[in-house]
Amino acid sequence: MWFVNMRKKLLLGNWKMNKLASEAKQFAVASSSLVEKAKLHNIDLGVAPTYLSLSIVKENANKDMIVAAQNVHFNSSGAFTGEISIPMLKEFGINWALIGHSERRTYDNETNEKCHAKITALIANDMVPVYCVGETLSQFEANRTKEIVERQVREGLKDLTSALVKNLVVAYEPVWSIGTGKNASTEIAEEVCKFIRDTLKDMFGDVADEIRILYGGSVKPENIRAYLSCPNVDGALVGGASLKIDSYEALLDNIM
Ligand code: PGA
Repeated sequence: MWFVNMRKKLLLGNWKMNKLASEAKQFAVASSSLVEKAKLHNIDLGVAPTYLSLSIVKENANKDMIVAAQNVHFNSSGAFTGEISIPMLKEFGINWALIGHSERRTYDNETNEKCHAKITALIANDMVPVYCVGETLSQFEANRTKEIVERQVREGLKDLTSALVKNLVVAYEPVWSIGTGKNASTEIAEEVCKFIRDTLKDMFGDVADEIRILYGGSVKPENIRAYLSCPNVDGALVGGASLKIDSYEALLDNIM
């Protein structure tokens, strides 16, 4: 049977440790018309500000702007100094969170097991995890991309059911392409995103056709269209090029 790709495109900005709350507010206000424009083209727009800017962005952005945390703790409260819990996010209307970003895997010992605990807790609370996976440069050079990505997907999503993963988003970000300007070719992006979808299909069945898979790593206004024209790439997770409103708008314009 033929399959029509009904997955809604998603452009998600990852601001990392950038922007004061005042700057985040300015962006949120300025982005309002972009969300309206995106809606006309059936595209979801979102940003992931720092924890401290989440509420100001939520309050000042268009109500349909997706506002995501960059991390979350898997416990709902307790003795975890420096952490933020799911109920704390939900109190501010935040329903999305990035999980397992490579910078957190590298600098904060975010393992697949920890990602799994966080993803399970998010889904149990009706939140949307954006699960980031990807191989390092040495793994890429050793031709281990699929082995690494498959392990990340299987361990991060183990014990979940097809009903539970329906709203999940997966982001494939080769570590060697993040913030380096060395973006993966569209062939690599499509091959790995398709491989991720096949792995999801093996784990969860047909629901895999509904799960959005993003590419991330040095995505810019000049190259985003090529990625989004790949059949298994449903959107982009963008760092540097999502920080300025003009560049963010150019990313959107180029996928409409
Ligand atoms: P970049 O970051 O677009 O600056 O490469 C992407 C990311 O880390 O999500």
